[in-house]
Amino acid sequence: MKAADTCRHLPFGSRFLRKLAGDIPDIPINILGLIFKNKVGLAAGFDKNGEYIEVLKHLGFGHIEVGTVTPRPQPGNNLPRLFRLKDDYALINRMGFNNKGVHHLVENLRQLSSERPILGGNIGKNKDTPNEQAWQDYIYCFKYLHPHVDYFTINLSSPNTPGLRALQEKEPLIKILSEIQQYNQGLEQPKPILLKISPDNSQTVLDDIIQVAQECRINGIIATNTTIERKGLITPECILNEIGNGGLSGKPLFNRSLEVVRYLKTALPDEMVIIGVGGISDHASYMKMLDSGADLVQIYTTFIYQGMKTVKKIVQQ
Ligand SMILES: Cc1cc2nc3c(=O)[nH]c(=O)nc-3n(C[C@H](O)[C@H](O)[C@H](O)COP(=O)(O)O)c2cc1C
Repeated sequence: MKAADTCRHLPFGSRFLRKLAGDIPDIPINILGLIFKNKVGLAAGFDKNGEYIEVLKHLGFGHIEVGTVTPRPQPGNNLPRLFRLKDDYALINRMGFNNKGVHHLVENLRQLSSERPILGGNIGKNKDTPNEQAWQDYIYCFKYLHPHVDYFTINLSSPNTPGLRALQEKEPLIKILSEIQQYNQGLEQPKPILLKISPDNSQTVLDDIIQVAQECRINGIIATNTTIERKGLITPECILNEIGNGGLSGKPLFNRSLEVVRYLKTALPDEMVIIGVGGISDHASYMKMLDSGADLVQIYTTFIYQGMKTVKKIVQQ
């Protein structure tokens, strides 16, 4: 990304980056009241601080989700915290919301040119904020990011912030979503709000989420974040034990995220948007996710493995 960023500043650099990404036809689509140039977005966690948007926009993404950002900067977990499982076409990470804080992100977003891509702001809580006060962290990030992003993602599903996923349970979920929605609806220009959920929720928790999401009138759900499951991997158990805790992403996640998307499609009203994410790696898996009910998709791990031409390979057969 640093090399690509340097390239962008050279004469014809942007054109060169677009050439590397390949010709990606625009297939504009109106979702959440926004015009997306295509259905493939970059998932949260890749550009946590909004440092590479001017590069990423040349690689064909229909939208870019920045963050997860927290109110205050935090270093995240100790290194090593990111591992490739090449045989599984997967990653395990326990980054732990390393980010430079919402004000740094806002500064970067302020400097973007007017031709910026559609941006989602993925927001979280600081590690040392107790769960009872978590809603205040979400409101804080929401407030400062609001003028600079097109939609928001409430992230309650990272496995790498202790206790975070418990916030998906009914009571804390109602508190957080209703506080954010109350603030949002009081603004002159309310923004769409999505909730990003874990693939590891029980059926009861998933049903509660579906109910609360409708009651709080949020606009949709992003399914899913990484999983703590390790079933069915090719990577030997001794290596997995050496790696230790973290969220698994990439191909092994695909069937579960597809299953969650399929269920959401049957349970949510049509006007609620579903963004499918988890293990999409080629055109076939992309189409399968759309056919199962996703309005848009996002990718992360496959971009790490495939590089500059990823979006083209996914959008085109
Ligand atoms: C290194 C890494 C960091 C991530 N950080 C975040 C994050 O900060 N916030 C978030 O909502 N999801 C984060 N994710 C999850 C991705 O956004 C995505 O939901 C997940 O990786 C599944 O998609 P994939 O199989 O295409 O990678 C991260 C994933 C990876 C691999």
